[in-house]
Amino acid sequence: MLPRTYTPAQSVVGLRPYGFLILDEHSTSLFKKAHSLNFWEMAEQDDTYNQILNNAMVSDSNFLTDIILRECGDVFLGINSLIDVGGGHGGAARAIVNAFPQMKCTVLDLPHVIAEAPSDVHVSFISGDMFKYIPPANALFLKWVFHDWGDEDCVKLLKNCKEAIPPRDAGGKVIIVDMVVGSGLNEIVTRETHVLYDLFIMCVEGIEREEFEWKRIFMEAGFGDYKIISVLGVRSVIELYP
Ligand SMILES: C[S@@+](CC[C@H](N)C(=O)[O-])C[C@H]1O[C@@H](n2cnc3c(N)ncnc32)[C@H](O)[C@@H]1O
Repeated sequence: MLPRTYTPAQSVVGLRPYGFLILDEHSTSLFKKAHSLNFWEMAEQDDTYNQILNNAMVSDSNFLTDIILRECGDVFLGINSLIDVGGGHGGAARAIVNAFPQMKCTVLDLPHVIAEAPSDVHVSFISGDMFKYIPPANALFLKWVFHDWGDEDCVKLLKNCKEAIPPRDAGGKVIIVDMVVGSGLNEIVTRETHVLYDLFIMCVEGIEREEFEWKRIFMEAGFGDYKIISVLGVRSVIELYP
């Protein structure tokens, strides 16, 4: 049983894995080595950690989605139904549906996340495993999801995405919000942010990808074309077409 209370600095949970930076050949991830559970298992088994994670994601989505809607909101034009895959407690979905009230917007996430999601009249919540099945929709939205996973898992997830959407000429697309290392403003602060996130995400077995690495997984999953729009210099919106 995991302890319910943490030392005063809750962030110690996230920092402790760096003490294990030298992995031996049997190790999986730094996070798992430090906590004996991977990032998602920890959230499933520890309510406090689950809440911290979901609240942090809502804060990020509240901040970023408004900027995305302002700078490149037209990526959502014409979409009738949207599923926010791995959408947590729906921070992004709520902002999108406020801007596009005619859109049917659904959040798909794991059962322990959906169980604590606040109810909302405009956004529906469904629990499921995105690696098993994604229900059909006009378009899918995945914010800060792919960077959590290695290439093999991403290709599997992308193939499920492709199954869920119609062809491009019928409006099908996947909208990804993540980092594209090396894109955006070529400023020291952008490069430092990318490196910092790369270090963080390595700890949970994820990858911050450069464009050629994104392209490789897109093509391997059978997608035809993509477009990258840089937001704030450090994050990107990727429109991906079947
Ligand atoms: C980094 S969070 C991003 C949350 C949200 N998209 C955002 O940006 O605010 C990743 C999300 O993926 C969800 N997730 C992880 N594995 C999943 C799976 N197999 N099926 C569905 N959701 C999953 C997590 O529960 C978490 O909510």
